[in-house]
This record gives sequence, C-alpha cells and structure tokens, in this order.
Amino acid sequence: MKNEHKGLAGIVAGRTAISTVEATGSGLFYRGYSINDLAEHASFEAVAYLLIHGALPNEIELGHYRQKLQSLREIPGALKLMLEHIPSAAHPMDLLRTGCSMLGTLEPETKDNPAEEIADRLLACFGSMLLYWYHFHRSGKRIHVTNDEESIAGHFLHLLHNRQPHGEEQRAIDVSLILYAEHEFNASTFTARVTTSTRSDFYSAICSAIGTLRGPLHGGANEAAMELLNRFKDADGAEHGIMKMLEEHQLVMGFGHRVYKQGDPRSSIIKAWSKKLADHHNGSTLFEISERIEQVVMREKNMYPNLDFYSASAYHYCGIPTSLFTPIFVIARTSGWAAHIIEQRRDNRLIRPTAEYTGPAPRPFPNNEGIQ
Ligand code: ACO
Repeated sequence: MKNEHKGLAGIVAGRTAISTVEATGSGLFYRGYSINDLAEHASFEAVAYLLIHGALPNEIELGHYRQKLQSLREIPGALKLMLEHIPSAAHPMDLLRTGCSMLGTLEPETKDNPAEEIADRLLACFGSMLLYWYHFHRSGKRIHVTNDEESIAGHFLHLLHNRQPHGEEQRAIDVSLILYAEHEFNASTFTARVTTSTRSDFYSAICSAIGTLRGPLHGGANEAAMELLNRFKDADGAEHGIMKMLEEHQLVMGFGHRVYKQGDPRSSIIKAWSKKLADHHNGSTLFEISERIEQVVMREKNMYPNLDFYSASAYHYCGIPTSLFTPIFVIARTSGWAAHIIEQRRDNRLIRPTAEYTGPAPRPFPNNEGIQ
C-alpha cells in the first residue's frame, strides 16, 4: 500500500447518494442541496427527514414529523434506572453509547420497529437520556424529559437550562445540528457501514459509530478545541501559546481536515453564528481569541479551521458545558448514520478489505521449549 493511502486517504471505499464533498473537496451537499442553503433556509428536522426519509418534507409533512419526534422524547423507566447507575464521572459519550445499547434491548429492531422508526426514536430521545443523567448526577433531580419545545435544539436547551431557550441560541444550535448532520464516508459513518455490512442490527451500528466519533481526531475535537481556548486569557496570549505549540509540533485541535484542504465550507457558517452570539452576550474575548488562533495557524501552517473549531465558542456562548459538545454531534449525526445504514442495507456486501503483511516470514515453531 502506498504511504499516501495510509488511513485509506484518497481511497474510494463505496458509493453513496446521500452527500458529497465534491471532487475538489470545496463544498458539501446533502442529496444535492448545498450546506449553505440548508443552513440558511431549513430546520434540522427538515434536514433529518431529507437524510433518513429521502426527500425534503413539505410544510404538512414537516409539521407531522415534528409532532412525531416530540411524541418520542420520553424514555423507559428501566433506561432511567440504568442512567442513574452510570457514574457521574463517566464521559457523556459513554453514556450515549450505553444508553443506545440499552434501548436496543428494550425496543429491539424488528419488522414492526424498523430502521427508520429507530432513527427517529434515537434522534428524539438522545437529548432526553443525556440530560436526565446530567441533572440526576448534578442535583439528584429526576427531571421530566418532555417539554413543549417544537425543535430538537429547543428541547435540548430547555432541558439543559430548565427555561425556554433564547431564540438566537436555539437557532444557532439548530444550524449547528444541520452542519453536523452528515459528511459522506467520515470515520464514524464508515464504522456504521462496516457494522451494517455484517447484517448486524441498527443499534449496534449506531453504538460503533458513537465509539468512533468520541475520539479527538474526529468528533471529540470540538471539546478539545474548547479546552485549548480555555488556556488563554486574551488574543496576544493565544498567539504566543499557539506559536509555542507549533514549534513543538503539537496538533492544534479544530484545524485541518482529511478532505478539505482549502477550507471547510461549514466553518464560515458556524463562525458567523459564534460572532452573533458573542455580540449578543457582550462577550467578545473568546471570539477574539478564536480569531487570532485562526490567523496564526493560517499564517504559520496554511491550515484552515474545521467545523469543530468555531462550534466550541458557539456552544460555550449558549451555556453548554464542554463535556456535552460531542454528544450534541451524536444527536445531529444520528440522522446521517441512519441514512448510511439504510443505504448500505439496500446494496450490501460485507466490507472486508485486505492488508499488506509486514510481519516475519513463515518460520518453524520452537518445539523444544514447552509453552503450554
Ligand atoms: N495542527 C497542527 N498540525 C496539523 C494539524 C493540526 N490540527 N492537522 C494536520 N497537521 C499537520 C500534520 O502534523 C502533518 O504534518 P507533517 O506532514 O509535517 O507530518 C500534516 O499537517 C498533514 O496532516 P495529516 O495528519 O496527514 O492529515 P490527515 O488527513 O491524516 O488528518 C485530521 C486530518 C485528523 C483532521 C488532522 O488534521 C488533525 O488531527 N486535526 C486536529 C483534530 C481535529 O480537528 N479533528 C476534527 C476533524 S473534522 C470533524 O470531525 C468534524
């Protein structure tokens, strides 16, 4: 295998009609619709419907879909009990992976509970699981996980802050869910497709994907980017710190991308939201630090921020604790994973590549020494 293909870089590993990053890696389209148009004109629910159910909904279909998702927010008592037993020090990503697995035992995939239904169910109740556990372990309160909020973003923010969300924050999270929803053959989606290709069940594919998304080179980068931003008091301090990191060949989290070498088309959208939220909160320092880091990394490494970088400050301005950043990515990406699981099943063949062997040549077993 050529070194340039290490990590399967540049390898076409399958076909998809769900999304494309374009041959030049400069744009992103979900079923033909540009990410700019979707982030400007659609809601996350419309995008999830597009991905899972195959077409944009009309107004009536979207209304029904929202109602359906609202009706699926409650979680079973046995799941709540299990969440209460997960240690408070656990990472919320582990909780979602475990919660997903537990739901798979309570509401398994069957002919009457097919993939599309489970996809909607998980989209609707991942926020419930997360925030039930979060509040139980912080205040001992067993919160009601349902509320009247129309959107998944609103449901999440209302449960987190125990109040009606501010309109601007709600739309910022809604847009962020749209941006995070789908991204071709990224690592977690590919994992979900590999699991699916063995004819495993829907929940197993999602659990594998969550485990893959957790890593800081993938979804975990939004939390790692926030931890980086927190190290600096102001923009000058950030410039100094980043220069030192680059001298030491450290990774700057939230920068670089396997496909986008001339900029992540999602980054400018979330950056604009981060700026809007900074202005709204009169709290520009974090945004200034972020912008300075962007300038320094561009100047020194010619490298662009990816979606995770400005998501960190945007989420922070919405009062979201850092450990919940990657779980929000899970809520969004469940729609893309589901679409890929469904697509993989329609034209399945076991995904099983081969490896170039680099170990020792065949050799005799040392039969004069016992090793049993
Ligand atoms: N900071 C500093 N240097 C970097 C960074 C970075 N964030 N990213 C890449 N580089 C450097 C590498 O060290 C390498 O340098 P070298 O040629 O001197 O060894 C060069 O740029 C090429 O990078 P690769 O690692 O080959 O790029 P690859 O395509 O394998 O990795 C990845 C892409 C994993 C995203 C990488 O850029 C990275 O680790 N970024 C930080 C983590 C991150 O932000 N992940 C989020 C991805 S987007 C998402 O999941 C929504």
